[in-house]
Amino acid sequence: MPENYFGERVAERYDEPTGEEFEPAVIESTVDFLADLAGDGDALELGIGTGRIAVPLAQRGVHVHGIDLSEPMVAKLRAKPGADDIGVTIGDFATTTVDGTFRLAYLVYNTIMNLTTQDAQVACFENVGAHLEPGGCFVIEVMVPDLQRLPAGEIFRPFDVSATHLGIDEYDLLSQGLISHHYNGKDGKFELLSMPFRYAWPAELDLMARLGGMRLRERWSGWNREPFTAASTKHVSVWEKPE
Ligand SMILES: C[S@@+](CC[C@H](N)C(=O)[O-])C[C@H]1O[C@@H](n2cnc3c(N)ncnc32)[C@H](O)[C@@H]1O
Repeated sequence: MPENYFGERVAERYDEPTGEEFEPAVIESTVDFLADLAGDGDALELGIGTGRIAVPLAQRGVHVHGIDLSEPMVAKLRAKPGADDIGVTIGDFATTTVDGTFRLAYLVYNTIMNLTTQDAQVACFENVGAHLEPGGCFVIEVMVPDLQRLPAGEIFRPFDVSATHLGIDEYDLLSQGLISHHYNGKDGKFELLSMPFRYAWPAELDLMARLGGMRLRERWSGWNREPFTAASTKHVSVWEKPE
C-alpha cells in the first residue's frame, strides 16, 4: 500500500473551506457534470476522501462507490448525513478492484497526481478501464503543470503566500516530481506538511487512457465546459471506453 499522506491531521481539517473547490457553486457544477455522465448508471470515485463530491452526487440519486486508502478521511465521510448509501473499499485506487461495472469513474481535485510514478498512473487507467462498462466514461480534473511560471534554473515556486499559509512547490524536472510544501501558521507558529506528487501533461494522460482501452471524448478547462486553451491552468478530461 502506498504511504498515506491523508492521516488524522489532514482529515481533521480537510473540510474546512479554504480553496474554491469547497465553494457551493463549484461543487454544484462538478456534480452537474458528473451526474449527467452517470445517467442511470453507477459511479466509482477514486480517492473518495471525505465525500466532498460523492455525498452531493449520491443525493442526486447516483449510486456511488469509492476507493480510498485513508481510514481517517473515510471516517469523516461515514459521519456525514447522506453517506449511508455510499460503499467504500479501503485500498490503493491504482490496483484495488471492486465488484460490478460502472458507467462513470472519476478522479478529481488533482488526485491522479498522488500516484507518484508513471507505472502507478498507467495502472490506474488500466484499473479504471477494467471497471467501466462499454460506453462508460472516466473523468479527471487536474492542473496543467505550472512550468511556465517556474523561472529557468529554479526548482522552487511559491504558489501561496499569506500570514497563515506559505505554499511552495518543489519541482524535480527529470522525474516529473513535485513536492508541495505547506507551512501552516497558527498562534505565531508554522507547522510543515510536505506531500509528493507526479505531474503529467494532458497528452501523456491521453496515452495512458489508450493503454487502459479508452479514447479522449472531451477536454474542458472547468466544470462549466469552459474551453481548454494554451492559457488554461487546469483541465477536466473525459475518456470513453468504446461500445
Ligand atoms: C485531495 S484528496 C481528494 C478527496 C476527494 N476526492 C475530494 O475531491 O475532496 C485525495 C484523496 O485521495 C486519497 N488517495 C491518495 N492516493 C491514493 C491511492 N493511491 N489510493 C487510494 N486513495 C488515495 C487520499 O487518501 C485522499 O482521501
